[in-house]
Amino acid sequence: MSTNKIRFFYQGRVREVDSASPTRTVLQHLREDLHCTGTKEGCAEGDCGACTVVIASLVDGELEMRNVNSCIQFLPTLDGKAVFSVEDLKQPDGGLHPVQEALVECHGSQCGFCTPGFAMSLWSLYLKQEGQTQPPCRKTIDETLSGNLCRCTGYRPIIDAAVRMGELPAVSFDRATLKATLQGLQRDIMFSYTHDGQTFHAPRTLEEMAALRAAKPTATILAGSTDVGLWVTKQMRNLGDVIYT
Ligand code: FES
Ligand code: FES
Repeated sequence: MSTNKIRFFYQGRVREVDSASPTRTVLQHLREDLHCTGTKEGCAEGDCGACTVVIASLVDGELEMRNVNSCIQFLPTLDGKAVFSVEDLKQPDGGLHPVQEALVECHGSQCGFCTPGFAMSLWSLYLKQEGQTQPPCRKTIDETLSGNLCRCTGYRPIIDAAVRMGELPAVSFDRATLKATLQGLQRDIMFSYTHDGQTFHAPRTLEEMAALRAAKPTATILAGSTDVGLWVTKQMRNLGDVIYT
């Protein structure tokens, strides 16, 4: 498996990217390269949640799904993972997912700019609730939506939708197939991706991390991107080599 391709799963197939800057964001890739424009850009600094997508990864061999801000996630961080955007909520018959249906029924959208982000955060909650007989409690709903801002609808109808979505006919999610797909994307060597003289390294162990740090003392250390992402999206800085922890 070539290490100089970013490989991830999106919309039913494995994607390979070999010509993007290591600091191109997931949001830029979805909207500008793949022309999937359901995901919105509000602030481009990880504050508003309009750009929320769900990322699936294997953690200690188990599937973990998290809602994240795609505006500050660099594309190579997707390697070996899967990304889900609001386009993925469309049902095989073209209909709405219960998350979207509930937002409609509860009047949870006005201008709609925040709505794809809310829908994806609610979807991550919907997945966690699978098999539960009780609706999520208010604290869980608040925590799930804490990264999503809405300036015109207000939050009560959206919170109502978080309860209502579980009362609608259920839609299941095939975790087993996704887990097998991600297993097939895992690498047995450290992932490094170079484009235009800039390299993104993703060490897998503390030893690899220490060796890289010693070899490249000026490389930018990247973790959750909440600061470093803004150096790119707001300050247009070239980060040079990146070591992703
Ligand atoms: S666009 Fe606002 S958090 Fe990403
Ligand atoms: S519906 Fe307009 S910002 Fe939320």
